[in-house]
Amino acid sequence: MLTPAPTRGDTSWFVHDRFGIFIHWGLYALAARDAWAKSREKIDDETYQRYFNHFDPDLYDPRLWARAAREAGMKYVVVTTKHHDGFCLWDSQYTNYKAPNTPAKRDLLKSFVEAFRAEGLRIGFSYSLIDWHHPDFLIDIFHPLRDHPNVAQLNARRDMRRYAAYMRSQVRELLTGYGPVDLIRFDFSYPDREYNGLPGKGRADWESEALLRLVRDLAPDIIVNNRLDLPTEFADVHTLEQTQPREWVHVDGEPVVWETCQTLSGSWGYHRDDTTWKSPEQLIQMLISSVACGGNLLVGVSPTARGTLDDRTLAALKVYADWMRLHSRSIYGCTQSEFTAPTDCRFTQNGKRLYLHIFSWPFRHLYLDGLAGRVEYAQLLNDASEVRVLEPGTRTEWSVARTDADALILELPTVKPRVTVPVVELFLR
Ligand code: GLC
Repeated sequence: MLTPAPTRGDTSWFVHDRFGIFIHWGLYALAARDAWAKSREKIDDETYQRYFNHFDPDLYDPRLWARAAREAGMKYVVVTTKHHDGFCLWDSQYTNYKAPNTPAKRDLLKSFVEAFRAEGLRIGFSYSLIDWHHPDFLIDIFHPLRDHPNVAQLNARRDMRRYAAYMRSQVRELLTGYGPVDLIRFDFSYPDREYNGLPGKGRADWESEALLRLVRDLAPDIIVNNRLDLPTEFADVHTLEQTQPREWVHVDGEPVVWETCQTLSGSWGYHRDDTTWKSPEQLIQMLISSVACGGNLLVGVSPTARGTLDDRTLAALKVYADWMRLHSRSIYGCTQSEFTAPTDCRFTQNGKRLYLHIFSWPFRHLYLDGLAGRVEYAQLLNDASEVRVLEPGTRTEWSVARTDADALILELPTVKPRVTVPVVELFLR
């Protein structure tokens, strides 16, 4: 089985746990049309200030979020401490643009971290490299002022050196003030995205080497993602987005520790009118497909400005909870299998346990190439009911099962078990 080369951070827990929750929460929850509204609609600071002035999450109780995540089977949380709009959930001493200065009147990160730790989840911070509020951040392709008539003059007063120092100060606060942090996710670099003569941004702008050095000094075991625009070997985890790879992710020809993140609907930030919510099958299949390719799934959840998870979000988390209660054995500690799964199926494997996830329920017989003579016992995972295993040449009453020398046949019930994705647990010899 594939094992990526070790990196600086400790990824041992990460590749075991496989499943996390990604919480995007900030002022954009009030706009309720995704976290990118300020950029897309070119909203200036003065106009965006209305969300700051009205941010009053009176129902915020992170213990409820943490419990829902734990029940869904999620083992780590990543929270947007600061997103692209620059707003900080914690009481940073380097800015006034922070939760304690809104009607929320407090550091919202502290209780968050305590609540998720209490439910046994690992803690991850997402920190945006992009900042559409900081006065030193050079206006570029994504900045709300990109089409301002005096953009050159505005930029002349801005100084990315000061902004890079600001980021280091804030990251120091985050890594020293909230107990051990297991993962940090920087978001994101775009060195090639020039716009009307405004250059994109990458390692020279963020001073990525210095930022990373600081992180490694403060938290030697921490896991760092690959969006700092540094060479591959500097990252512990490669983070894909809104995509499911077909096979283990390779970078420069080598397998890497990887994670894909997916939204429940189409948006990272709360979006009231979004109708593109994923179906229960899609939700479960994303998780299985990630682990089947040796990766992790990080699922995006977007709380409202009241501080609640809305009914659609709770329903989606319940889909995970119901499935994981019976099937987590085919996820935790599992990885890409040495065997190739049949059509419409995915394998995950944990040592001598091979898990067959059936996305499309077949009619009674399922052929497993390459597994003849290899399986000692098989059962449905949801209820531990035996599944008959037919070795090559076995005669059934009315038909001869296919006799390929290396294919096993599973005899499944005609009716699909009442779970979102059924799993057969195969005990290998
Ligand atoms: C992208 C988006 C950002 C989101 C992130 C999640 O970088 O810009 O809004 O937080 O993906 O990985």
